[in-house]
Amino acid sequence: MRIVVLTGAGISAESGLSTFRDADGLWEGHDPMQVATPEAYDDDPALVQRFYDERRAALSRVEPNAAHVALARLEAALGDDLLVVTQNVDDLHERAGSTRVHHIHGSLRSAWCTSCDERHLWDGPLADRPPCPGCGDRALRPDIVWFGEVPYGMDVVERALWSCEQFVSIGTSGAVYPAAAFVHWASGRTLELNLEPSMGASDFAESRQGPATHLVPVWVDEVLGDGGPNSS
Ligand code: APR
Repeated sequence: MRIVVLTGAGISAESGLSTFRDADGLWEGHDPMQVATPEAYDDDPALVQRFYDERRAALSRVEPNAAHVALARLEAALGDDLLVVTQNVDDLHERAGSTRVHHIHGSLRSAWCTSCDERHLWDGPLADRPPCPGCGDRALRPDIVWFGEVPYGMDVVERALWSCEQFVSIGTSGAVYPAAAFVHWASGRTLELNLEPSMGASDFAESRQGPATHLVPVWVDEVLGDGGPNSS
């Protein structure tokens, strides 16, 4: 793997999706512990479902921004030599044209049946407890990795990091593990692109500050102009 990119909420901020750790410590008006844990779901499934239904519906009101588009351009040039690992549950990477996106925290556009264990592409609400298209049970939950649950596909991510030439972290505060540790697992050069220095900024060989819609296209131009397939 030549390049591994990790993205967080900051890359989608300029598309209009709020980040998790805004100044007031709330996420869309909620304490994350009241909507993003298995315990919260057990206590009040309707509240949690409504919260994610709103997040899912909000996806249709936002568009990918220049940072998502730049990463899709990089994939078009590098193919298998790029892996985008995202903590985001939105679908803005895919809508920008990226196809190799690894959602370690799950996806809003997926519903998981806790009865038959099948996952289904999902665009509508879940709060009204629709039946699972597979087994018919009314046991669909958001396919989101909540606090205390195990992120998806870490074996794939670990292998990619161990062999990468470059690891780039974009728009993440570095507050949540295991993603915050990726910089330590990466074999290659490390770069952070973030609005402000993240908690782990000093662990990176280089840290650049600014909005993702500016920093990411500039970095992609650098990669493609420096030994990339588009360089002459
Ligand atoms: N461009 C670049 N970076 C930005 C921008 C922007 N326009 N706007 C905000 N940022 C940065 C912030 O400075 C912050 O460091 O993005 C980061 C967002 O951090 P968080 O809100 O903590 O989001 P993230 O790191 O993705 O959270 C990780 O925490 O709650 C869990 O599962 C949830 O996936 C999430 C995880």
